Amino acid sequence: MEPRLERILSGVREARGNVVVHPGAGISAESGIPTFRGAEGYWVVGSQNYMPQEMATLEMFEQAPEEVWRWYLYRFGIVRHASPNPGHRALVDLERALGERFTLVTQNIDGLHRRAGSQRVFCIHGDAAWVRCTAGCDVGLLDLPDLGIRGKDDPFTAADRARLSCPRCRGWLRPHVLWFDEFYDEEHYRMDSALRAASAADLLLVVGTSGATNLPMQIGRIAYQRCAAMVDVNPEENPFAELAGRSARGYFARGSASEWLPEIVKALGA
Ligand code: APR
Repeated sequence: MEPRLERILSGVREARGNVVVHPGAGISAESGIPTFRGAEGYWVVGSQNYMPQEMATLEMFEQAPEEVWRWYLYRFGIVRHASPNPGHRALVDLERALGERFTLVTQNIDGLHRRAGSQRVFCIHGDAAWVRCTAGCDVGLLDLPDLGIRGKDDPFTAADRARLSCPRCRGWLRPHVLWFDEFYDEEHYRMDSALRAASAADLLLVVGTSGATNLPMQIGRIAYQRCAAMVDVNPEENPFAELAGRSARGYFARGSASEWLPEIVKALGA
């Protein structure tokens, strides 16, 4: 490991500092889940009839719930059949070693952290494993019914409609994900908890995100302004790499999550 990175990580280890890990889609790329803005990304390929990001809006769901569900069921089928990779597992080891000094603030809705065994996780963009009532019935978060693997062009059936209806009001159930025309909050997306964790971080370890969304960049800026150590793992330049480059205790680890995370986690004491 490069001496500069070794120094940063051993400093956090010896100071028994708080570590906040902030992954994006890149950590799950090696589990076969497309990213959003990469070559085959969801926001690049999208659906047959609609611009990609249109699909991920409450407005579109209200207009064409079947079309939106058809697209999400295709995506959720991929997620359901993916498995955690060495990057996810390394973070489980780190949590075991650090206990309460560890917090995972993920942008991913794929649930692979939870399935790998991570506990202290805030899912700031929601979780594909859950649905909730659009009418706000207090049925809370319900498990997404297993509607099997869907092809991109598979039809949405009456049986699907029945399974995606609220058990209380029979209205639509919606994916428990944050859409582009919606706001972060604490109730559904643990916004305050994520910002609190960032405000107490001695190290912010960012993995596989292009920094295209709001709360993640706030988390980065808080860590930067507090002069926390900052390490960014990504094969490509991105705003977090730039922040790390400007930080006194910052490092841009160019490469993949599974390549870097096991080594970084070991240097932090796991
Ligand atoms: N290891 C680490 N990083 C990787 C890997 C890998 N194996 N493969 C790709 N990456 C990096 C890419 O270089 C890119 O910077 O992962 C990043 C993925 O960026 P995006 O596709 O933009 O995904 P993300 O940053 O997670 O998107 C943020 O935007 O659209 C919303 O809700 C959506 O949660 C998502 C958010």
